[in-house]
Amino acid sequence: MILTMSSNLKKYFIITYGCQMNLHESEKIAGILSSMGYQSTNNENDADVIVFNTCCIRENAEDRAEGNIGALKKLKRTNKDLIIAVGGCMTQQKGQAEELKSKFPFIDIIFGTHNLEDFKSLFLQKISGKKKIIAVEEKEGPVKEGTPTTRTSFPNAWVNITYGCNNFCTYCIVPYVRGRERSRKMQDVINECKQLIKDGYKEITLLGQNVNSYGNDIDDENTNFANLITEISKLDGNFRLRFMTNHPKDFNLPLIKAISSSSKVCKSVHLPVQAGSNRILKLMNRRYTREDYLEKVKTLREYIPDIAITTDIMVGFPTETEEDFNDTVDLVNRVGFSGAFTFIYSRRSGTPAATMDGQIDEEVSKKRIMKLIDLQNSINREQSKEYLNKTIEILCEGYDEKKGAYLGRDTYGRMAYFTSPVDIVGQFVSVKIIKTGGISLIGEIVNDK
Ligand code: SAH
Ligand code: SF4
Ligand code: F3S
Repeated sequence: MILTMSSNLKKYFIITYGCQMNLHESEKIAGILSSMGYQSTNNENDADVIVFNTCCIRENAEDRAEGNIGALKKLKRTNKDLIIAVGGCMTQQKGQAEELKSKFPFIDIIFGTHNLEDFKSLFLQKISGKKKIIAVEEKEGPVKEGTPTTRTSFPNAWVNITYGCNNFCTYCIVPYVRGRERSRKMQDVINECKQLIKDGYKEITLLGQNVNSYGNDIDDENTNFANLITEISKLDGNFRLRFMTNHPKDFNLPLIKAISSSSKVCKSVHLPVQAGSNRILKLMNRRYTREDYLEKVKTLREYIPDIAITTDIMVGFPTETEEDFNDTVDLVNRVGFSGAFTFIYSRRSGTPAATMDGQIDEEVSKKRIMKLIDLQNSINREQSKEYLNKTIEILCEGYDEKKGAYLGRDTYGRMAYFTSPVDIVGQFVSVKIIKTGGISLIGEIVNDK
């Protein structure tokens, strides 16, 4: 009886592009659909509704989404009742909703980043017979609380602390598609964390485009990021706290002190540098110099000597010379990052950098990024060697079918694989590293407790 009922349930399939913010917003879309009685499926052929949550940070993110939306035309032809919705950052760009509508006339709902919380009512309008719905609010509204959420990443949980961005780095589309920075109230964030810990989540990642400016828009001097992580760390329970992303210009001493004095906060900090040349940093409107950055890294290591620092780096920003690029290489060598996400600059229409003279040839950028990746890989291999025969505490995050092993990360964010006769997802385990490769480590569980 129950089986028949559940097989009749309508199903949703969500495809997410982009950053953690988007992954978490897909959990909200899933929450809204679940609250309406829909069930998740991993098979698009099974789905009654398919939602694309898009990204436009780089051109290839848009291309991938468009390719996959286009591929649904056939499915829509064979399944007339299928509802296709497209939301996220891509739809929020000027003129983009209209363009999507004409390119892919079979899309049923287009909704912008400021319309996420309206998804239920938009969806209801659609199933009650409306033909096509486009809802792209130009301006952000106030922070909304209480959107249902179906979490998909146990034992990790994402928690928004800010929305939007005020920094206007000259290459970046985010401020245009996510609006101005808005902070959630400290008590709302703390209550959500408390509930997550009660529900058994073991790692909380606070999310914001620049978590360090949390609270700047709230008229209360105690509402700031250092206080927020201190307060969350005081909550009872065995859990870890992470956050992203930091902005070097706002990464300050009170925060460094808060990280070093909170045992729950992981010993890893993501501090995107973007470039090592002062001339390029200025053109990017990053508002710090390489010297400022190196000084912050030095202070951070004074307080937390074993801190792992990861970063984002871009190559091929307009006018970047070989000398500028060498400054980036030099900075990477000086810092010794534990990981670096490297990107080739992608021209985003509407941003100041898109109209700058001196756009860089793709081939030049490719050579530069390869050099950076090689350098970072060799740094990672050296760091991995230090793990050999060490026993580390891992939070088991899941099981990798392909590798036939469980996986999880240590406080520094380093991934390790290991086997276990029983399911240990969501548990902290001691793992002795017996083999090291590139970034990931291979170990075995030891019983030291
Ligand atoms: N708010 C975060 C994340 C922004 S997007 C931050 O400031 O760090 C993540 C990364 O994408 C950025 O750090 C940057 O390295 C990269 N990125 C942003 N815009 C880009 C563009 N136009 N081309 C290539 N990479 C870009
Ligand atoms: Fe983009 Fe800069 Fe804001 Fe990050 S801080 S989202 S790179 S504008
Ligand atoms: Fe994230 Fe992409 Fe939007 S990186 S904020 S989903 S443009």
